[in-house]
Amino acid sequence: MKPFSNIIETAANSSLLFNKIFYYKTISSTNDKCFSTGGLKNFIVIADKQTAGKGRFNKKWISPASGSLYFSAYIYRPVIDYNDAVMLTSLAVVQVLRRYNREIRLKWPNDIIIKSKKVSGVLIEQSFEGIEPISLVIGVGINLFTDFSKIASLKDKALSLKDITEKEIEAGIIFRDIVELFEKYYIHFTKLKKKIIKDWKKCISGINKEVRFRMKDRIIKGRLIRVNNDGSVVIRSAKREMTYHFGEIV
Ligand code: BTN
Repeated sequence: MKPFSNIIETAANSSLLFNKIFYYKTISSTNDKCFSTGGLKNFIVIADKQTAGKGRFNKKWISPASGSLYFSAYIYRPVIDYNDAVMLTSLAVVQVLRRYNREIRLKWPNDIIIKSKKVSGVLIEQSFEGIEPISLVIGVGINLFTDFSKIASLKDKALSLKDITEKEIEAGIIFRDIVELFEKYYIHFTKLKKKIIKDWKKCISGINKEVRFRMKDRIIKGRLIRVNNDGSVVIRSAKREMTYHFGEIV
């Protein structure tokens, strides 16, 4: 894979939001690198391989070289909040990936899936000064052509874009298109917010289906009733209907 192709350099030069794109062959985690890079406003870190890739809920994001795209965007003093960032980012990623396969959907809140297997994941972290958000780090991992059938722990959970498109799509093109869409949504967020939420809701899979929902150490069995404009999810179990802002559909 040649992730830092001309396409990425062009994306860097024409970016309206990000001043710089840093490329590493190997790094611990692109999210962590964003937090440890000082003195810059908005930038992107991209890597071929991560040795300590992080997923949601303190899980590992296994990040072998070649075959996947790993990048994180650092935004200084964000004009959107965490929940907006979840919807905006996952919508940008799912819309770009759906150009290759229309079956790609979102699993609440921001897993990108096809046939219940994960094609891409988003990890958003924040830093604060007191209660004021100082930065937002938006990490995206996309399985482009990693062969998960050879990774025992992931073969039932993950899939590559190549498995469904049968072609190797250049990482640079996917990266450029996601960054372009993300920037458009971020820069014009106030104007586009309603449409972003509406489109994000449309991409969520499993509405009206029975699900198992993990909330901290508890598993709740119930029906996924709807997702709300603030990004939360409503689950109806035998006992009651509850709204959750955080958790995982398992
Ligand atoms: C998840 O689905 O659990 C989120 C996975 C996010 C993985 C990406 S890869 C680039 C960035 N750096 C990390 O360490 N994690 C995110």
